[in-house]
Amino acid sequence: MKLLHVDASPRSATSSSRALSRFFVDQLRRRLPALSVDYLDLAVEPAPVITETFTTATYTPADERTDAMQGALAPSDALCRRLLDADALLFAMPMHNWTMPAAFKAYVDAIVRGGITYVATEEGRYVGQLGGRRTLFLTTRGVDLRAGTPFAAMDMLTPSLRAAFGFIGVDAPEFVDAQPLQFAHEIERADALRRAKRELAETARNWADELRPALSRAG
Ligand SMILES: Cc1cc2nc3c(=O)[nH]c(=O)nc-3n(C[C@H](O)[C@H](O)[C@H](O)COP(=O)(O)O)c2cc1C
Repeated sequence: MKLLHVDASPRSATSSSRALSRFFVDQLRRRLPALSVDYLDLAVEPAPVITETFTTATYTPADERTDAMQGALAPSDALCRRLLDADALLFAMPMHNWTMPAAFKAYVDAIVRGGITYVATEEGRYVGQLGGRRTLFLTTRGVDLRAGTPFAAMDMLTPSLRAAFGFIGVDAPEFVDAQPLQFAHEIERADALRRAKRELAETARNWADELRPALSRAG
């Protein structure tokens, strides 16, 4: 049983999304000691920016690709493999300008791949290949964008994550959004962190209850 844990904040020691994603993984590990974790830090190993060769290569049949095309696709192939190899997924990131940070957008561009993470059928449908994986998006935000707040309509992060990952088959994404953090008063910030930790602990409990039987079967 493998969890793919992806962090995308440009901050390191002071990052709140990293601290919260670590908290979630600790909670999950306490309940599932046999869990293995594949950790990807996009600040250390950034996904490549899409180039012209990549663009041509991705729409060229695999057996017609030149060496240069294969080279351009290789990092994306590897990222897709890590995703498909995982049984559960955790993506942690800050909100940047109302949507995902650029490092995570580059990752999305690398993992949405025809013939790998989604497949086009002869009837013209698209079938995502990541179904059946527990998936958590953990986001941190400077302001409060919950329903009923003045910034609620500015949340382009949740819908874009739902769309991109729904297309590749993530059918029941879960979200824990820590907000408001950076631009809030200390008391509000502490409340937001407490709320997020409570939700993360509950999510870890639910995941563990569901994943434990499969882990014990795997021995
Ligand atoms: C470039 C940049 C853009 C940001 N844009 C937003 C934004 O649009 N909305 C928001 O609520 N917070 C925004 N923030 C604040 C971060 O989302 C917030 O500080 C978050 O907690 C950072 O998480 P991290 O510590 O894991 O990087 C922005 C921060 C940066 C650096």
